[in-house]
Amino acid sequence: MSDVVSYKDLGLVNSREIFRKAVDGGYAIPAYNFNNLEQLQAIITACAETSSPVILQISKGARSYANETMLRYMATGAVQMAREMGSDIPIVLHLDHGDTFELCKSCIDSGFSSIMIDGSHLPYDENVALTRQVVEYAHAHDVTVEGELGVLAGIEDDVVAEKSTYTQPDEVEDFVKKTGVDSLAISIGTSHGAFKFKLKEGESAPPLRFDILEECEQRIPGFPIVLHGASSVVPEYVALINQYGGKMEGAVGVSEDQLRKAAASAVCKINIDSDGRLAVTAKIREYLTNNPGEFDPRKYLGAARNELIKLIKHKNEAVLGSAGKA
Ligand code: G3H
Ligand code: 13P
Ligand code: ZN
Repeated sequence: MSDVVSYKDLGLVNSREIFRKAVDGGYAIPAYNFNNLEQLQAIITACAETSSPVILQISKGARSYANETMLRYMATGAVQMAREMGSDIPIVLHLDHGDTFELCKSCIDSGFSSIMIDGSHLPYDENVALTRQVVEYAHAHDVTVEGELGVLAGIEDDVVAEKSTYTQPDEVEDFVKKTGVDSLAISIGTSHGAFKFKLKEGESAPPLRFDILEECEQRIPGFPIVLHGASSVVPEYVALINQYGGKMEGAVGVSEDQLRKAAASAVCKINIDSDGRLAVTAKIREYLTNNPGEFDPRKYLGAARNELIKLIKHKNEAVLGSAGKA
């Protein structure tokens, strides 16, 4: 089957140029995960309206939920939609937490412009070898690659890490040199999901390990660094979910101040998935409770989509600083 397609024919870009500008300009590019139509419409609408470059992220779980071919065509449709809105924002289609060479190759062959190979749970030498293998294939197609050093607690697709392991700054230079990656995800205290910190009554979340980030920066000056697990777990959404029958007591995320500080540093890509999930869930719960006779999915999914647009605009404008940088 000769179904190989280049991202360049789909109107997508790789991440090289937008990362260089973001590092120089002291802001971060948003990377939003999507699994369905409404999420994708919201991301594109908000990023086009705020004139922000954007990374559309697809996880392995998203590929099996929505079908990989469907998602690729949706992303192509999203590029077209942005252009029809009169917007020329750079759009990257990125594999989030790729775990095998075969998966990465399949995404590259089907039009992704950027790939993450996450070998962070492997012994160092195996991480280097796997990442190097992906980089060789990706660079032959002008696709950019994100690697990871250090393990985030929480769920990374099929890999569940109980405890985080901070990135060791003395490994980053060697890793970047040996693998040839274009960006590096590091572990400085964030984790995936909506329960990032276990706090007692009255406690607030501990600050991120900016000392580790700074040490990494010193060893690879100007190199693009990526922050995963960067949802704020917006308290208003958690409150709405709990108010309308949900059960998310104790959900907590990374404060916007910490994210602003990260975005101003060499962190040039900030990954956000959970906040979008919370916005959608909060609005659907609220809508259905307040409109018990409604059964048209466009009504409650439309309410969720409107909220997502608001959330993403806020992130781009007031947290990541990517608005106006397209
Ligand atoms: O890092 C994980 C992302 O939030 C993707 O989550 O594997 O449930 O799609 P998922
Ligand atoms: P959150 O769970 O904090 O949104 O992190 C998402 C992420 O890192 C996707 O790779
Ligand atoms: Zn992640």
